[in-house]
Amino acid sequence: MIEAQKGTRDILPEEIGRWQFVEDRARESFERYGFGEIRTPIFESTELFARGIGEGSDIVSREMYTFVDRGGRSLTLRPENTAPVARAVLQHQMHRASGLQRLYYIGPMFRYERPQKGRMRQFHQIGVEVFGSEHPAVDAETLEMLMRFLHRLGLDDPELVLNSVGDSTCRPAYRAALLAYLEPRRDGLCEDCRRRMVDNPLRCFDCKVEADRATMAQAPAITDFLCDACREHFDRVLGLLRNYGVRHRVDPRLVRGLDYYRRTAFEVALQSLGAQNALLGGGRYDGLIRDLGGPDVPGFGFAVGEERLVMALPSARPVDGGGPDVFIAAVGEQGVERALLVARALRAAGRRVVFDPLPDKSLKAQLRRANDLQARFVLIFGESEVRERSVTLKTMSDGSQETIAEETVVARLGEMMGG
Ligand code: HAM
Repeated sequence: MIEAQKGTRDILPEEIGRWQFVEDRARESFERYGFGEIRTPIFESTELFARGIGEGSDIVSREMYTFVDRGGRSLTLRPENTAPVARAVLQHQMHRASGLQRLYYIGPMFRYERPQKGRMRQFHQIGVEVFGSEHPAVDAETLEMLMRFLHRLGLDDPELVLNSVGDSTCRPAYRAALLAYLEPRRDGLCEDCRRRMVDNPLRCFDCKVEADRATMAQAPAITDFLCDACREHFDRVLGLLRNYGVRHRVDPRLVRGLDYYRRTAFEVALQSLGAQNALLGGGRYDGLIRDLGGPDVPGFGFAVGEERLVMALPSARPVDGGGPDVFIAAVGEQGVERALLVARALRAAGRRVVFDPLPDKSLKAQLRRANDLQARFVLIFGESEVRERSVTLKTMSDGSQETIAEETVVARLGEMMGG
């Protein structure tokens, strides 16, 4: 048997309701704030990610699905969507429009990681990106939108944790201070961290090794090194969040694994998710469009892991699609023909109708199926009904039935369902 690849999975009809629920809420929430949807290709040139996310990042150095196509191009399945969206903004000159560009996306991303609960090789993100302003109000308003979205999903008190990771003015001095702290401790660090010291020492904060975490907890914090402009930006963001009443915590050692971040960086983790507890991450990336060959266009955004979001939904949410309004059971060929026409008329009237043309199955078996599907009503075309051009209408909640003329079915169901 051929099975789905390791780290990928099918999302089956019985779970899709939860996915549609979060996606509907996302669209609704973001559109209220003026965001429009963008859909970018699943694969892009490898160079886009190397330049955008950074050669030394874990994603680019060892997690990308990269291949050469028949034309000899190096292509990569998108591991994230900030770089592709920035590429699209630049390509379509959307940054030239007066005012901000507010975009959101929902779709699959690909990373070659060791799969475990909540960590997939094909996973989905719901994300937003705002281009065109470095004003702290963009950070604050987008974060307020994000927290409201999570609240509307009924998540249990998600905590926003944020930091400023500085910019090209203040980061070099911080980097030097961090290296000065790490050098004498190098031998005690894991192999990955020793490599990170060369590529980007800030990434040592992401290390999961217990001993390294203890070392990093004592390391100098970027917040003590921010230049005046970054300090002021961060203070404004925090002040605006306080005005909103958005609960948050500053973690001076929070850094993110992608190179494009400047100034604000943030995450929301949920303990209920277990080991892979990062629900979402994001921040400001004012240098990204320039790194891709464009002008200076500031940007800010986040991406939520949809698998993790769906997992974290309160289980009480009745978010499956529900059963059909009507299940039609028919015996014999004539029954099938009548059923098809009645099903069409009911659907035209807006009803959700399931008809399985299995006329050799007993009525009893067909009713069992209606029950499994949780249909509200069953229409029965048995032998006598076919002969008399009538139909039996059964209400599944109380088992009551009535036999009525076929041409009155649409109206009768309308009455029973309240229009
Ligand atoms: P990221 O932190 O790499 O950021 O990913 C964001 C979220 O995607 C994570 O918090 C997690 O929920 C989910 N995620 C990442 N990898 C996996 C995986 N292998 N399996 C399941 N879920 C996963 C970004 O991707 C940035 N582009 C976010 C951003 C947007 N920054 C600014 N704008």
